[in-house]
Amino acid sequence: MQPDPDIQTVSKGYNCKLCDVKIPNEASLEAHMKGKKHQHLCRLRTKRKAQEENSVYVSGFKPDTSTSKLAEYFQQFGPVSEVIMDKERSLYAIVEFAESVSTEAALTQLQHRLDGLKLRVKPRERKEFKLASKGKHDRTKPHISLEKLNHELCLTSSVNEQMQKMVEIFQLSENDSKARELLVQLLQEVFIEFLPGCQIVPFGSSVNTFGSHSCDLDLVLDLENTKAFQNRTRKSEETAENQSEDGQSEDSILSDIDLATASPAELLELLAAILRKCTPGVHKVQTVSSARLPVVKFSHRQLNLQGDITINNRLAVRNTRFLQLCSGLDSRVRPLVYTVRFWAKQKQIAGNPSGGGPLLNNYALTLLVLFYLQTVSPPVLPSVEQLKNMACEEEECVLDGWDCTFPSQPISVPPSKNTDDLCTLLFGFFTYFSKFDFPGSVVSLRAGRVLPITDFLSRDDELSDTAESSDTTRQNPTIRPKLGPVNILDPFELHHNVAGNLTERTHKNLRREFCEAEKYCRSLQYQHKSSKGKSWGLVKLLAPHTEGPSGSHDAIEKVPEITVPFRADILSPSFRTELSSAGEAFRVLWFKKVCSTLEVVFNDILKCAPSEHVEISQDQTSAKEDTKDEEVNNNQSLDISCHQPIAHSGIKRPLAMEEGPSSSSSPQGKRMRLEPSADYPEVAHWNWTQIHPVWAGRRKIRRVLLKTSDETSKPEGGCSSIESRVTQYIIENDSNPKEKVQFRVDAAVRGSDECTKAVLTFKATDDPAGHFQDFFHFLDSFLPKMVETLLAKSE
Ligand code: UTP
Repeated sequence: MQPDPDIQTVSKGYNCKLCDVKIPNEASLEAHMKGKKHQHLCRLRTKRKAQEENSVYVSGFKPDTSTSKLAEYFQQFGPVSEVIMDKERSLYAIVEFAESVSTEAALTQLQHRLDGLKLRVKPRERKEFKLASKGKHDRTKPHISLEKLNHELCLTSSVNEQMQKMVEIFQLSENDSKARELLVQLLQEVFIEFLPGCQIVPFGSSVNTFGSHSCDLDLVLDLENTKAFQNRTRKSEETAENQSEDGQSEDSILSDIDLATASPAELLELLAAILRKCTPGVHKVQTVSSARLPVVKFSHRQLNLQGDITINNRLAVRNTRFLQLCSGLDSRVRPLVYTVRFWAKQKQIAGNPSGGGPLLNNYALTLLVLFYLQTVSPPVLPSVEQLKNMACEEEECVLDGWDCTFPSQPISVPPSKNTDDLCTLLFGFFTYFSKFDFPGSVVSLRAGRVLPITDFLSRDDELSDTAESSDTTRQNPTIRPKLGPVNILDPFELHHNVAGNLTERTHKNLRREFCEAEKYCRSLQYQHKSSKGKSWGLVKLLAPHTEGPSGSHDAIEKVPEITVPFRADILSPSFRTELSSAGEAFRVLWFKKVCSTLEVVFNDILKCAPSEHVEISQDQTSAKEDTKDEEVNNNQSLDISCHQPIAHSGIKRPLAMEEGPSSSSSPQGKRMRLEPSADYPEVAHWNWTQIHPVWAGRRKIRRVLLKTSDETSKPEGGCSSIESRVTQYIIENDSNPKEKVQFRVDAAVRGSDECTKAVLTFKATDDPAGHFQDFFHFLDSFLPKMVETLLAKSE
């Protein structure tokens, strides 16, 4: 059989590129090629090709111009067989001639005029013929089913091979890249007509070597040259009125807008108008001005691509080059990134479907992988700082004040001494981040190490250690990264936390998935191919996230535990400054504040009576032992209904923590365990008593009280005075005080090799009527929010 360009020989038979089908053997191939579908597509392709060659693209006519008027005009070059008008706006048309000579004649004529307007007549865009069945290549759907992927992965013989397979399966195909190139070319041609000198530059996954079939096309419209052009034109117009440079400004859109002073919103509207009115195949154009970087989104019908255009976003183009460089530095980078990206997508922790959202974006996730490769021993990748020092003078690059210097070619960077295989590195990645204190640290690819969060808490010196350029520090003295539960600094734009969009919930999920993955990677099932045909290696790791309350087993063996996460972003400025000078001891300093805040919540807001405060002690185990010997003072708890401010040891003791070193032994004479650099306790515990159902019906009472107060509506736990009044109301209206609930709270601070948080463990010590469960249930949602509210106000 003659070699056919549509037919590709693959490992298991053939692939027909035209029909997008796999054919197992030669006999079936022959039948396929004679078959109806293949023949039909061949005819259709020939027809389309002829249509493309015989047609021209026309724009610049009046919006009310009819197709017959256009046909009439173009008849002068030869018989016109069809005129297809842009349906949405009637602003461009495809004029198809019966013969290709007419097309040539129309294209060679220098000027076309209709109804007094100059027409633009261009060759019609040549599109690669794609399978007619629309929707088959829906980019929102995976191009390979999970079963198929699992099957392919199981055919390999090691995790290393599986990871290589991930790249093979998901990387952009030649056609995918071609489609993107075509779209860039089309946009460049259209935009340059209106914005002389402008440049459309792709960035992100389409070009960073980590792209996949479904990724969108991120583009930057660089208007620097256009601005210069506009300046020159304006100057020359001032000297010689109506004389235009290169004839370009005559009907240019530039006469309506001053690029130097236009707002991002105005520029976006301009782009949107060009896309809507003048770009063939483009639809669903939408401007998003509220994004961190305002963007125009659009889709291209025939190429089945979604695109985003931002303006003058040179940093993104540069950080894309950085990702490309990292990918070229070591062959293990791509398989790791592809595997981690797919894993994160499956677990619903990355890849916000429509841009904004609380999940990690793929850029941030990729930076996490690169960061791990910088920190592993020996490192696979150098830090950005080290890369900078490997660059030569010509490679120096400063954008918007940020130093973006790194070598342009991998050859300038010495190869890594790390010899770990992919399987080990992936395991290492999960292990590293399963124990990572995300809220209490800042990931810095620039430094190639973790920076303490305290470097970023104070008001104006936060950039001094990390910013490379003194210009930068001068330009942005008060801008710091938006801190959140996860802090990953951009390698160049050092005041940008690329994970600043994450919420506490997504952080929790992220952490859970890292732990699950780490646990699985420790198993033999991960490391060895199953000889019994069971799934192994990546297959189980990449299984989709299953819904359910963060592990249904949690519900069964739920320990009455509440955590108060460390959240730098909600702390008052003065407290942040205080923490920033505490170094590693910031955790205990924060914990101390949480403890005194907890007392305010239990004592002042929920009006619990302290039974007896059990002193701060070495650790939770010894603290628990103490309770056995304790005698709880019930009388105190009964006093509470009198609404008297209560003076008791229970409130006072934690304040004694502030006494610092001198309070380093408990009344029982035990030595407190101290952090190496701080004279603060790590654990604290209290016993409280409550005899009123302060947990019941609060929402309704709050609503009623809010109606009669000046307070603006706040969520539960959002306002201490309202919450105190709600409690008060419940107590005053409780005609029948029930039996008491006595409970113990143990608090401990965690951090360093896990997330910084205060963990509160609850235990009912006396609960004859069985109210504790209800009380705890209420505290579970109320307490963290209330503590946060108070911490935010705390000076
Ligand atoms: P994405 O997160 O979309 O990454 O950011 P991606 O690699 O293109 O992945 P897809 O599109 O989800 O498959 C796109 C680009 O935007 C810039 C980076 O250049 C990144 O490559 N970017 C993104 C930033 O500069 N800062 C950010 O915080 C996020």
